[in-house]
Amino acid sequence: MVSVTDISRPRPELWTLDPGVLHLNHGSYGAVPRRTQDVLASLRAETEANPMAWFRSVADRLTAARLELASYLETDPAGFALVPNASAGVTAALATVPIAPGSRIVLTNHAYGAVRFAAERFARQHQAEVVVVDVPLESDDDTVVSLISAALGSTTAALVVDQISSATAMIFPIRRLVEACARYDIPVIVDGAHAPGLLDAPAGDGADFWTGNFHKWPCSPRGTAGLVVAEKWRARTLPLIVSWSEYDERLPERFDMQGTFDYAPWIAAPESLRVLADLEWQRRRTQLSATLDEGARVIAKALGSSVPEVVHPAPTMRLVELPFPGEPTPEAGAAFKLRVSRELKAEITLTAFDTRVFIRLSAHAYNSLRDYEFLAERLPTLF
Ligand SMILES: Cc1ncc(COP(=O)(O)O)c(C=O)c1O
Repeated sequence: MVSVTDISRPRPELWTLDPGVLHLNHGSYGAVPRRTQDVLASLRAETEANPMAWFRSVADRLTAARLELASYLETDPAGFALVPNASAGVTAALATVPIAPGSRIVLTNHAYGAVRFAAERFARQHQAEVVVVDVPLESDDDTVVSLISAALGSTTAALVVDQISSATAMIFPIRRLVEACARYDIPVIVDGAHAPGLLDAPAGDGADFWTGNFHKWPCSPRGTAGLVVAEKWRARTLPLIVSWSEYDERLPERFDMQGTFDYAPWIAAPESLRVLADLEWQRRRTQLSATLDEGARVIAKALGSSVPEVVHPAPTMRLVELPFPGEPTPEAGAAFKLRVSRELKAEITLTAFDTRVFIRLSAHAYNSLRDYEFLAERLPTLF
């Protein structure tokens, strides 16, 4: 019988992923290439050889890394700050926009859970409320824009919207939503956690705030994300940790120094961009999109389920409807994923939306159609 090690192709010269496992969920925590891990290890060795010398060198090295990351996003470096993750980026944005008592922070039902919690916290603190707009999974752009627009008005404090949603892996029409918000002068906070590496120039749609992770698709060390701030907000946007750069007039520098902290991942992050360039990632991601279309169909057929008609799916993510055995509680979902991990040696994630449960496939350069054929063959044995 074919085993996972016959199928799994993590290419040991590029990745350190365990070849005894099928890695089918890049989107949650990414994977750091071997070359970047080597850079990171040498930066940490340098730190431990002389911590004083390392911290003296950090500011210049951070500037160089930041400029490279901003250039990758094709964004103005003067408005680009480093943050540890998209959660921090959204939180910093929510802490900046004025939220009047009685105002409304608008989200959709696709929003990432922790981002919704952030909106709820700020709403509570300001006696405001969170309004969740229901956007059906199979909506086209016109429907998305008209449903969200209908919830906007003079009392809207901010729109917080996904660029690529987590549970539904769907691309939202950010530019059109920014235009809709401009009519009421509503600040737009874009959760672009999945956008770097999947969309070109992802911060270029004119939102007030955009945040995105480098530790997902661009494969940078975890804890590396960016916050892009429109010019009118730059003077007021503050990092969540108050440190020595508190009074720096320039936004990026204000976010650079976050106290005594491990800056090595931020400094090593650009190495992953070079690895992606060597892998011809943009071409590869187009191929993966076709691979995933086919892979999702094969899995759905094996399960007797379907692939939802998401109008603009993320290039390297697809949903497959999972006929969930029993009540789909979070605990039952976690138990199912653990069975897949232990019994099939495959790492997958499940998402829930409305009353539906999906396997969310998310592929990177180490995945191929055989991975999905293998999963399709084995999954039915778990039911
Ligand atoms: C859409 C979306 N927003 C926000 C986040 C949070 O990202 P992080 O954990 O890096 O803060 C995620 C993480 O998967 C996400 O998918």
